[in-house]
Amino acid sequence: MVSFSPKPAITIVILFIFIYESKGSDDDEISPLLVANQNNNNNNKVNLSVFYESLCQPCATFIVKDLYEIFNTNLINIVNLQLVPYANSYANLTNNSISCQNGQDECILNSLESCALNLWPDVGRSYGLIFCFEFLAIEGRSNKWQDCFDQLDLPRAPILNCTTGNGTQLAKRYIDETTKLNPPHSFLPWVVVNNQPIAQDYANFTYYVCKAYKGIPVPEACNSIH
Ligand SMILES: *[C@@H]1O[C@H](CO)[C@@H](O)[C@H](O)[C@H]1NC(C)=O
Ligand SMILES: *[C@@H]1O[C@H](CO)[C@@H](O)[C@H](O)[C@H]1NC(C)=O
Ligand SMILES: *[C@@H]1O[C@H](CO)[C@@H](O)[C@H](O)[C@H]1NC(C)=O
Ligand SMILES: *[C@@H]1O[C@H](CO)[C@@H](O)[C@H](O)[C@H]1NC(C)=O
Ligand SMILES: *[C@@H]1O[C@H](CO)[C@@H](O)[C@H](O)[C@H]1NC(C)=O
Ligand SMILES: *[C@@H]1O[C@H](CO)[C@@H](O)[C@H](O)[C@H]1NC(C)=O
Repeated sequence: MVSFSPKPAITIVILFIFIYESKGSDDDEISPLLVANQNNNNNNKVNLSVFYESLCQPCATFIVKDLYEIFNTNLINIVNLQLVPYANSYANLTNNSISCQNGQDECILNSLESCALNLWPDVGRSYGLIFCFEFLAIEGRSNKWQDCFDQLDLPRAPILNCTTGNGTQLAKRYIDETTKLNPPHSFLPWVVVNNQPIAQDYANFTYYVCKAYKGIPVPEACNSIH
């Protein structure tokens, strides 16, 4: 973790052109894995939930470095990925305000990320924007979040509209989901595979996902594990 050093910003752009192109070609060419996946009962998909907050450094590193692998390896095809920002935030229902552990800047990013997740159910798209934000967070430049929309050529208007409109509503929903965790989380990021927290092993989530997956064929990413 400590040895992970972020690459220059230009890498983000290249990375995401790669992600979008590989997503696009899934639709056009239909990879064998995708076909197999469509024939599979969707119940085989493994639920992978990540409870986090935007300015927690281990969270940012996990999202940028570890979680990226599920898109890089097609593991995403066997996973229902659920990102839950606003862990460790607090909703004051008396004055309808949200407080975030790492302050107002974190609330802003949490809100942007929540809105992306809700407006764009295609997790590849929302993950792209979140990756960019978290990359900046690692570099201590999260206040430059506006740049991400241009770099990724994503529309900012619907996201900004959402943060001023439904932002608080979404925050409450995510805070609620975190509160319902059983057992409760004890640190972040808190990674849950089919309702089982994997706690300190979070960076090793591929192992747990592959172990939980009952479908056929087994994706390549699981070959070294099964
Ligand atoms: C609302 O409550 C939060 C703490 O829960 C506090 O920080 C904030 O100042 C309050 N805002 C108003 C307008 O009272
Ligand atoms: C919630 O907000 C109200 C109104 O601003 C304030 O009186 C109260 O102290 C806040 N609660 C907490 C736990 O901060
Ligand atoms: C802005 O958000 C509101 C709901 O909060 C919605 O009714 C409206 O259509 C949105 N406007 C745009 C331009 O997306
Ligand atoms: C946003 O707010 C509008 C109006 O309050 C509501 O109809 C809509 O369901 C909300 N969207 C989300 C994602 O919460
Ligand atoms: C995954 O989550 C969905 C929706 O919450 C749920 O219906 C399903 O039972 C879960 N699957 C497993 C294997 O836990
Ligand atoms: C992941 O966990 C499994 C089981 O504990 C272990 O065999 C494997 O070495 C771990 N892999 C990594 C990269 O930590």
